[in-house]
Amino acid sequence: MKREKLKELIGQMTLEEKASFCSGADFWHTQGLPRLGIPAVMVSDGPHGLRKQDENADHLGVNESIPAVCFPAGCGTAASFNRELIKEMGKTLGKECQAEGVSVILGPAVNIKRSPLCGRNFEYYSEDPLVASEMAGALIEGVQSQNVGTSIKHFLANNQETRRMSCSSQVDERTLREIYLAAFEGAVTKKKPWTVMCSYNKINGVYAAENKKYLTDVLRDEWGFDGYVMSDWGAVNHRVADLEAGLDLEMPSSMGLNDKQIVEAVRNGSLKEEIVDQAVERILNMVFRFEENRDKTVIFDRDKDHEQARKVAEETIVLLKNEDNILPFSEDKKIVFIGAFAEKPRYQGGGSSHINSHKVISALEEAKGNSNITYAKGYLTEQEETDEQLLAQAVQRAKEADGAVVFAGLPDSFESEGFDRMHMSMPKCQNRIIEEIARVQPNVVVVLHNGAPVEMPWLSKVKGVLEAYLGGQAVGSAEYDILFGKVNPSAKLPETFPVKLEDNPSYLNFPGEKDMVTYKEGIFVGYRYYDKKKMDVLFPFGHGLSYTTFEYKNLKLDHHRIKDTEKLNVSLDVTNTGNRAGKEIVQIYVSDKESTVIRPVKELREFSKVDLQPGETKTVSFTLDKRAFAYYNTQIHDWHVESGEFTIMAGRSSRDIVLNEDIYVESTVNIPVHFTTDSTLGDVMENPKTREVVENLFAASTLGGGQGKEESSEGAAVSDEMMEAMMKYMPLRGILSFGGQDAIGIDELQRLVDRLNQV
Ligand code: BGC
Repeated sequence: MKREKLKELIGQMTLEEKASFCSGADFWHTQGLPRLGIPAVMVSDGPHGLRKQDENADHLGVNESIPAVCFPAGCGTAASFNRELIKEMGKTLGKECQAEGVSVILGPAVNIKRSPLCGRNFEYYSEDPLVASEMAGALIEGVQSQNVGTSIKHFLANNQETRRMSCSSQVDERTLREIYLAAFEGAVTKKKPWTVMCSYNKINGVYAAENKKYLTDVLRDEWGFDGYVMSDWGAVNHRVADLEAGLDLEMPSSMGLNDKQIVEAVRNGSLKEEIVDQAVERILNMVFRFEENRDKTVIFDRDKDHEQARKVAEETIVLLKNEDNILPFSEDKKIVFIGAFAEKPRYQGGGSSHINSHKVISALEEAKGNSNITYAKGYLTEQEETDEQLLAQAVQRAKEADGAVVFAGLPDSFESEGFDRMHMSMPKCQNRIIEEIARVQPNVVVVLHNGAPVEMPWLSKVKGVLEAYLGGQAVGSAEYDILFGKVNPSAKLPETFPVKLEDNPSYLNFPGEKDMVTYKEGIFVGYRYYDKKKMDVLFPFGHGLSYTTFEYKNLKLDHHRIKDTEKLNVSLDVTNTGNRAGKEIVQIYVSDKESTVIRPVKELREFSKVDLQPGETKTVSFTLDKRAFAYYNTQIHDWHVESGEFTIMAGRSSRDIVLNEDIYVESTVNIPVHFTTDSTLGDVMENPKTREVVENLFAASTLGGGQGKEESSEGAAVSDEMMEAMMKYMPLRGILSFGGQDAIGIDELQRLVDRLNQV
C-alpha cells in the first residue's frame, strides 16, 4: 500500500486504536481493524519449518502445531555453505506460509556461536559473522521472494540461554561491530528482512528492547532497515521507552495493559504521537505487503517438501574423518547399525523452533531394502548409564559384521532452548559403546547428531566420523546415501570443534556471573582465537572431506596495489581430480601482514560452493571491497584499513590454506592523532612531521636523537636498547623531570603539544 494511503488510514484512527496496533492481538496475530478494512495477520515460528499453532499457543514448543516439514536446523544449513540451496529452502518455506496464511516466519536466528555450550546453538549458524549473515541472507531472500516476511533474530548479543531474559551482555564496541552486529549486518543491508526481532537480554546494561543505539541508530539510520522491529515473546519491559527506542510491535499481546501506557504517555505529553504513528505505519506497511500479495492457490505439499528437506540434508552432513577411505561402504558388505539414533534420530532441537514433522525417516528405515544391514539399539537415548545387555548385544553384532556404524550424539535433555549445556561431552553410555565396538571391530564409523561441538575421546579408535548436525525429518535418508556413496558429502564445519571445552575462548566467562556476562575474549571468537594462539583443535573451522579430491591453482588478483575505496577481484581454478562428481567449498581468507591494532591471524571474507564433474575445472571468482581489509576503529567509529600489505588466502579450511597472494592496500582516510602531555615520545616520533617538530626543538640533544648515552664503565647496566625503550615510552610530560639540559617549563610543554596538534 502506498505511503500516502497508509497515512490516510492512520489519520482515521483514534489514539487508542493506534496504540493497540503496537502489540499483538493475541499470541500469534497482529491487531486488525475491520472498520478500516485492516486485517489481523499471523506470524509463526520457524525457522527450519512451520510451527503454526491453531490453538493453545506457546512460545516454548509445548503444545501441538500443525503437521509440517522439518528441514535441517541452522547449524546444518550453515554447514552446506550453499547460498542457492538455502535460498530454495527459503522459497519453499515462503510457499508453505502462503498456503497457511502466515505473514512472517520468525527467523532466521543468526546469533554467533560464542560458546559450544549455548543451548540454542543448533538454531544458530556459525562462530563466523560472514557465514551467519550470508546463510541467513539466502534464507531471507528465498522466503521473501514469496511475499512472506522474515524476522531475523535475536538482535543483539544473545549468545546464551542462562538468564536470557535478564542478563546483560557486556561487549566492547569493536567486538560488537566485527562479530555480533556483523552477523546481522549483511543480511539486513543486502536482503532487507521485513522484520527484526529484538532479544530479551541487555546490551551493556540496556535492554535490547529499549536500546535506541541498536534498534534505531544502527539498524535504521546506518543500515537502512525499513521494516518493523518486534519484540521477542515477552521481551518488552518499559513499553513507552521501548517504543521511543524503535521497538514497534510488542509480542505477544499484553492484554491491552501496555497499550494503555502508550495512550497515557501521549496524553500527558511524555510521548510524541508521531512515534506511535510511525510504529503503526511500519507494521501496517508489512501487513499490507503480505495481504496484497496473498496467493491462496498455493498448496502445502508435504511429501514434495520432504524431498527437498532430504536434498538440503545431503549437503549439511560433514565428513569429518575418513581414514583408509573407509567410506563409502559397499552395499554388499555386512554392516551393523548401532545406537538408538539409527532408529529414532535426533533431527531437530527443543523449544520454539520445534516442528511437528509430518514424517521422519531414520537411517534404519532408509536401509530397509538392504538385507546386509543389521541393527542393535546399543544404548538408551535419555540415559548416561550403560545398559549392559544392550551393549553386549551390540558388541556381538559388531563382531559378526564387516563394519559398524554407531549413531550417536546429544539427546534433547542435553541441548535445548531455555538452558545451556554444562559440559561438552556426549552421554557416558554413548562414549563407552563407541570404545567397546572399536575394540572388536576395526571398521567403525560414528554418525553424530548434535547442534554444536562435542568432545570425541574415542576419535583415534574409529575410522570415520560424519557430523549430521540436526538434519531435519529426512536425515536418515541423507545419512544412508552418504554412508553408501549415493551422495558425495560436501558440507564443511561452520565452527571449530575444540579438543576440549576448556580450550574455548569464552570458557572463563560463560555464562557469566549472576546477571552479567562479559565477552572478555573480544573479537577472538572461534578460529580467530585458536589460530592466534596456534592451538591444536579437534577439527578446524571450514573443515570437511569429500569422496573425491580437489586441486586449487592459479590464484589471481586483478591488482597488486589498490586504494581502500577500490575493489579487488580474486579468482582461482578448482579441479575435481578424483573419479566422482563432487562439490567443494572454496574459502577466501584475508590476513593483515602488519598492523598497529590487534587483529586475528586471518578472517573469512568470501566463500563459494562449486559443483564439479570428475576432471572438470572451474574458475571461481570473488570480489573483495574495503570491509575485507578493515577493522572497526573505535576512535573514528568507522571501518578503517591501515595502509600496508595483506595476504589473500584460498583454502579448503581455515587450517588448509592452499594458495596465497599479497596485495598492497592504501588507506584514503587519515585518522587525526590528538596529542596531550601524556602522549609518548615514541608516538610523536612515529609521524615524520611531528618528529621534525621535536627534533628541531631539541636538536643535537638526547631527546632529538643527537647524542648517544654516556659510555658506562660496566657497559651492561644500561644498554642502548634500554635507553631507546625508556625514551620511546616516556610521556611528553617526562621532559619536565627528565629533560636534563633540555628541561622545559610547563608553559613551553603545552606550547609544544599545541604545535604537535597543528601539524
Ligand atoms: C524465542 C523466539 C521465538 C518466540 C516465539 C521465544 O521464546 O526466543 O525465538 O520466535 O519465542 O515462539
